[in-house]
Amino acid sequence: MAQTFDVQLESLTGKRSVRVLGPPNGKSFYIETFGCQMNVHDSEKVAGVLLGRGYRQVDAPEAADLVFYNTCSIREKAAQKVFSRLGRFKSAQSGNKVIGVLGCVAQQEGEQIFERAPWVSLVCGSASYRKLPQLLAQLEAGNRRVTGLGLDTDETFETDFTRRDNPFRAYLTIIEGCDKSCAYCVVPYTRGPERSRTSAAILEEVRQLVELGYTEVQLLGQNVNSYRDPSPRRMSFAELLVAVAQVPGIRRVRFTTSHPRDFHREIVQAIDAFPALCDHVHLPVQSGSTEVLRRMRRNYTREEYLAKIDCIRSARRPISITTDIIVAFPGETEKDFEGTLSLLDTVQYDSLFSFKYSPRPNTAALHLDGAIPESEQGRRLTILQERQRQIQTARNAALLDRTFEVLVDTRHQRDGQWAGRTTSNRVLNFSSPLQDLLGEYVQVRVTGAGPNSLVGEHVI
Ligand code: 5AD
Ligand code: SF4
Repeated sequence: MAQTFDVQLESLTGKRSVRVLGPPNGKSFYIETFGCQMNVHDSEKVAGVLLGRGYRQVDAPEAADLVFYNTCSIREKAAQKVFSRLGRFKSAQSGNKVIGVLGCVAQQEGEQIFERAPWVSLVCGSASYRKLPQLLAQLEAGNRRVTGLGLDTDETFETDFTRRDNPFRAYLTIIEGCDKSCAYCVVPYTRGPERSRTSAAILEEVRQLVELGYTEVQLLGQNVNSYRDPSPRRMSFAELLVAVAQVPGIRRVRFTTSHPRDFHREIVQAIDAFPALCDHVHLPVQSGSTEVLRRMRRNYTREEYLAKIDCIRSARRPISITTDIIVAFPGETEKDFEGTLSLLDTVQYDSLFSFKYSPRPNTAALHLDGAIPESEQGRRLTILQERQRQIQTARNAALLDRTFEVLVDTRHQRDGQWAGRTTSNRVLNFSSPLQDLLGEYVQVRVTGAGPNSLVGEHVI
């Protein structure tokens, strides 16, 4: 039996995690990930499955026997990336390399990928990952083309071992898929229907993570707050948060993404009661216009969304709020867009991700009138981002001289310079005369503020 040491985790946290995995089969794999944190974490699980079958992980496709791309199709640009990657293997001798396409583009394009790139051997969507070990076995047995494209699973992707890349923050899935039907969104087609894991399986994984040295976990799901415990315990999402926060050794619990529709007061009450639940809620609004929200099929109005924000703002400790916005959805008028700008002023988000609307296959929005020209899309995005930059600059400036606890996750090149995150997920760059701070919780006083990060000094 080969022993694989999780070297990165060991060297960065000083804690040793030993995994006894399958015997080496002499083969190596490379995996590149596009898209969201769900995808990043899926790749960690896929890597775990491969290590469990005796493969070695390498960091260049040229050096690998097995090359996997875990793909994203949320917007057109993201989806195109994989075809440019696959193009590299066209003329270059791919030799005996096995090329696999995983994730959302795999699900969306299916077997058409074999037509566009005949040198691909495996196409597997994320709803079929639990079949991955069988698919790998078929490839190892010499099968030339294998697929996993079913969406009809009611199971989640459980692995014996997950090869985690981030030594300080452990991602873990609590719910897969999506049962909403937002008019612009491809996710229900690429990730299938909602499936929640049992609370017992989640809590067991959290306990294992503590044993590995993690103190911060991030619960993942397309809509985490739609979580429904399938076991007889029937924990609600808020109860699950509390249970995770109470696992001994856990100091920080994050969760993403929340859907406004299923966001309830109990979640805020849980955050108020348990300091381990981080001061941060990511609550995508998409638009500040009730009419656009209706066309997007978001199932809430601007006023209903603002009532959820009021609930978060009424918490006993300040909770940072971030969001996602789509500009130039079909039919969005100048007045609708101004509604989004005024929503930014009202809510005062701490950060946001903003996108131009991108038409996606199979989605209801494809049939809507009122497409907005590219140049106007760009204009709106720039205005929105500039407005938000001003808001963030002012919000961060108000933090000058305050002291925050930071989990240190980066050592900068320059001596004595470090970075970490506050519980509200702000990046704080700071100086310290001390050594070996990676993975430590330290107190940092803010001495400077920009729109996207803070600067400070270690308070010893
Ligand atoms: N076009 C542009 N942005 C999109 N998003 C989802 N679908 C689309 C699309 N078709 C954005 C939403 C979502 C985030 C993950 O991506 O803002 O919250
Ligand atoms: Fe992209 Fe959505 Fe798939 Fe994540 S779930 S990889 S954001 S398409």
